Amino acid sequence: MDKVEQIKQLKADKNAVILAHYYVPPEVQAIADYIGNSFYLSKLACSLDNPVIVFCGVSFMGESAKLLNPDKTVLMPDATADCPMAHMVTEEVAKKAREEYDDLAVVCYINSTAEIKSWSDISVTSSNAVKIVSKLPEKNILFIPDRNLGHYVASQVPEKNFIYNEGYCPRHEFMSADEIRELKEAHPEAKILVHPECNPAIIDQADYIGSTSGIIHYAAEHTEYDEFIIGTVYGVIYTMQKERPDAAFYFPKTTPICINMAKVTLDKVIHVLETGENAVAMPPEAEARQAKVTLSRMLDLAL
Ligand code: 13P
Ligand code: SF4
Repeated sequence: MDKVEQIKQLKADKNAVILAHYYVPPEVQAIADYIGNSFYLSKLACSLDNPVIVFCGVSFMGESAKLLNPDKTVLMPDATADCPMAHMVTEEVAKKAREEYDDLAVVCYINSTAEIKSWSDISVTSSNAVKIVSKLPEKNILFIPDRNLGHYVASQVPEKNFIYNEGYCPRHEFMSADEIRELKEAHPEAKILVHPECNPAIIDQADYIGSTSGIIHYAAEHTEYDEFIIGTVYGVIYTMQKERPDAAFYFPKTTPICINMAKVTLDKVIHVLETGENAVAMPPEAEARQAKVTLSRMLDLAL
């Protein structure tokens, strides 16, 4: 039996569903039941009946799925696949801001640990951050951990006062603005679509700034353009090429791969389905309760 058949069989045996983020390798996306961005996948996890979820992504994604679905088993194909940005803030930063501002909301990007979520007020993803922040009653917003997403949201919600934190996604922060510029010189008709985690020198060049699914939908819907320069992780190509087989997609020549997402392989999916290893543990009770509130507020306000 080949690996794909083996996964189908194991899924049926265990009544499991496979979720995959757009950044995992194409062969893994190909065997997933659902592919999506962070928001879609966390919402979806709540609406599925399967008792077992295999989450092809990084730790904060599996952890969010577990917090929202405590009775389900959430299996991570690689337990070491973690997002470095998800750890780039301490509670001291929030405590200091709360002392300084009475009217403050601590807004944490979903790319954060359960511990961070437990002392934050609300979570957001890149696809709903602008909408949610603009609905918050508080004037002052401490945006953690990602400073680039924070600055992008601030530019869209100018009525709020933002306080930033020095976190970043290494993959998007160190993407080269010169490489994007060179691509534009080589393909002057191409539209530049980038993720808000990119550094400001890239954001400034963009025609469109949005989440992974936003970027994919932009290319799918704008059939009047047939060339796109993409400022995010290469994995989005899998769905983009399906949506727009006629279009050309250009990525920086130092191909952006998220090394943690790249750890997810078919062999590891088979292994966790066979053994039940790498089940996400529920955080300590008080932490889990607060982190779940933070995530649930996001699901409510994103409506
Ligand atoms: P999306 O929510 O846009 O899918 O982004 C997740 C992520 O980790 C980006 O680096
Ligand atoms: Fe984290 Fe960046 Fe990888 Fe997204 S691309 S999971 S933010 S390291």
